[in-house]
Amino acid sequence: MNILLIGGGGREHALAWKLAQSPLCAKLFAAPGNPGIGEHAELVSLDVTTHAAVVQFCAAQQIGLVVVGPEAPLVDGLADSLRAAGIPTFGPGKAAAQLEGSKGFTKDLCERAGIPTGAYVRVTSEADGLAALANFTIPVVIKADGLAAGKGVTVAMTRDEAEKAIRDIFAGRFGEAGAEAVIEEFLEGEEASFFALTDGTSIVPFGSAQDHKRLGDGDTGPNTGGMGAYSPARVLTPSLEAEAMERIIARTVRTLATEGMPYSGVLFLGLMLTPTGPQLIEYNCRFGDPECQVMLMRLESDLVELLLACAKERLAEVAPPRFSPDTALTVVMASQGYPDTPKKGGRIKGIAAAESAGAKVFHAGTALGADGTLTANGGRVLNVTARGGSVREAQTLAYAAVAALDFPDGFCRSDIGWREVEREARG
Ligand code: AMP
Ligand code: GLY
Repeated sequence: MNILLIGGGGREHALAWKLAQSPLCAKLFAAPGNPGIGEHAELVSLDVTTHAAVVQFCAAQQIGLVVVGPEAPLVDGLADSLRAAGIPTFGPGKAAAQLEGSKGFTKDLCERAGIPTGAYVRVTSEADGLAALANFTIPVVIKADGLAAGKGVTVAMTRDEAEKAIRDIFAGRFGEAGAEAVIEEFLEGEEASFFALTDGTSIVPFGSAQDHKRLGDGDTGPNTGGMGAYSPARVLTPSLEAEAMERIIARTVRTLATEGMPYSGVLFLGLMLTPTGPQLIEYNCRFGDPECQVMLMRLESDLVELLLACAKERLAEVAPPRFSPDTALTVVMASQGYPDTPKKGGRIKGIAAAESAGAKVFHAGTALGADGTLTANGGRVLNVTARGGSVREAQTLAYAAVAALDFPDGFCRSDIGWREVEREARG
């Protein structure tokens, strides 16, 4: 079968690498892809906001499965257009993708379905927001409703900070994404990510991970898209996973189906593990980046079979995903200046050397010059990923690979996995 992968970051490189390993994959295309993805796929230039162009490409290339990596095309309804043209597609339609596209939509759904999450109100003006704030204790969380590239959330430690966040949203700081806001109870605990595949009816767990959102060692500095991750997240014990499956995921899938917006694809849950059990912080409607990279390093099943089963509503007919008990850990190499103004054009060498010790280097933001030189072309540039029998071992292998890279403009955190390494050391 021919497959089209939409996207061009580290997540999509990991997806391409795994899709291409499947005996079910005849030819893989990626739009736009990146130089790493180009080792597994033919790169094509497609305007994914013009759905008819994507449909036309799929017909011409006899595409049997489209895998949509990022959230924006899903929230924009690309999966609906493809399915309407009879093209099996992995990823939710526009209505169900509101789980990521609108924080207020998700909170309302949680309320209707009895899903554990923080108390909240939705507000549509600065005056309403400031008035509603009086009913919350500090700290409090202020969120722009729509997609804001991970920047729309403020955990306010003072009332002044909360008021400023509300004013910023309604002053247009996030454009359309801030036409509405959510004010939310602050939840305390350790965060973990959990993933499940669903075809709208059947649901299978797809593993767990923990991300490192802050730029600096020891979880300090500004928030980023993620500086590293590991999988599994052992803090999410089998009983907590079962609780999240039953009280959060199953209720979500059932409610969306009943209400005529069935969800198909991957559900990415941001969970807070509170003393009273897992609570939902947020949903994403796609794989995490860089969480996907570590989960796919551990996946032993055929990814094409699983994603196709979701797309064709046949998830119950295939064997559930199998994962290695190993830990996978990824270190993000970013370009100097990230996250504000990352430097572009820095030369990258040494990937073969880094991979010779068993690591896998996924390309997140790279470009290939006409003379074959690889350069940095984004904030997060490389995801240096390794697998080991323990977190410590995976961490050691990943940092050995980082040391073998020659990327003078690059930097990374030196403590990815610290929480789990400490836990492991304590036994
Ligand atoms: P999000 O953009 O929704 O992933 O939120 C970014 C981060 O804000 C999360 O990863 C949490 O660390 C934090 N956060 C969001 N909502 C809450 C909440 N209700 N309580 C505590 N922290 C939160
Ligand atoms: N790493 C967080 C995300 O993909 O949203």
